[in-house]
Amino acid sequence: MQDVLVCRNISKTYNEGDADTPVLNDVSLSIQAGEHVAILGSSGSGKSTLLHILGGLDSPTSGVVEFNGKALNALNSNALAKLRNDEMGFIYQFHHLLGEFSAQENVAMPLRIRGLSTKEANEKAALLLDEVGLSHRKEHLPSAMSGGERQRVAIARALVTEPTVVLADEPTGNLDDSTYEQIYQLLKSLSEKKQTAFVVVTHDIALAQRMDRVLRIKDGELIDTDNAKERA
Ligand SMILES: Nc1ncnc2c1ncn2[C@@H]1O[C@H](COP(=O)(O)OP(=O)(O)O)[C@@H](O)[C@H]1O
Ligand SMILES: [Mg+2]
Repeated sequence: MQDVLVCRNISKTYNEGDADTPVLNDVSLSIQAGEHVAILGSSGSGKSTLLHILGGLDSPTSGVVEFNGKALNALNSNALAKLRNDEMGFIYQFHHLLGEFSAQENVAMPLRIRGLSTKEANEKAALLLDEVGLSHRKEHLPSAMSGGERQRVAIARALVTEPTVVLADEPTGNLDDSTYEQIYQLLKSLSEKKQTAFVVVTHDIALAQRMDRVLRIKDGELIDTDNAKERA
């Protein structure tokens, strides 16, 4: 299997004024096509930071991220934005939906950016909203939806482009059990169809255990936990 997303010796330290906050220390990771990887870690351990770096939304202090062999830091901002739109789906911890747009318009946005017509983009968006159980909320603004509904809109938006890699930050945090199962099945079917890889950051052990591989961030380092007992 081919590696789609690789990070080599990533370190990240936030600098604010005189204070340095070291978060990641020499983290390396390879994700193969179609692979499902969970990253566990306590709050503040650096899970979101790592995911943002993997998705080219933030840069590491040192180290390299490569997508299909291409170093992200060698791309200019347009090329990086294009790569993200073409290949990556990002499910943010705090959704980041556009408040003045309806659910359907939010989901259609990545397709509009790709140059699809409004009609085509809206049709695909409607299909995805149907798949996450929100066909009755298409016209709602984010402010008129519950946290779980907003989360599902964010998931639909990340999947609508059928990306190569989905990076998901606590994707099931606000979902009830049946919605959660529906989302999981949706991810799985996309993965089977398109060899989509998933990197899911979570503190949900049950979700993590359904992935092919479970990693844990602790003290800035990434540890492979292939022993199920260690995961608990
Ligand atoms: N922009 C930032 N500036 C300074 N410190 C930050 C910034 N973002 C995150 N941090 C710090 O980095 C650490 C890891 O944060 P984060 O990656 O969000 O953790 P997690 O997602 O595992 O809860 C935390 O201690 C947090 O306070
Ligand atoms: Mg986080």
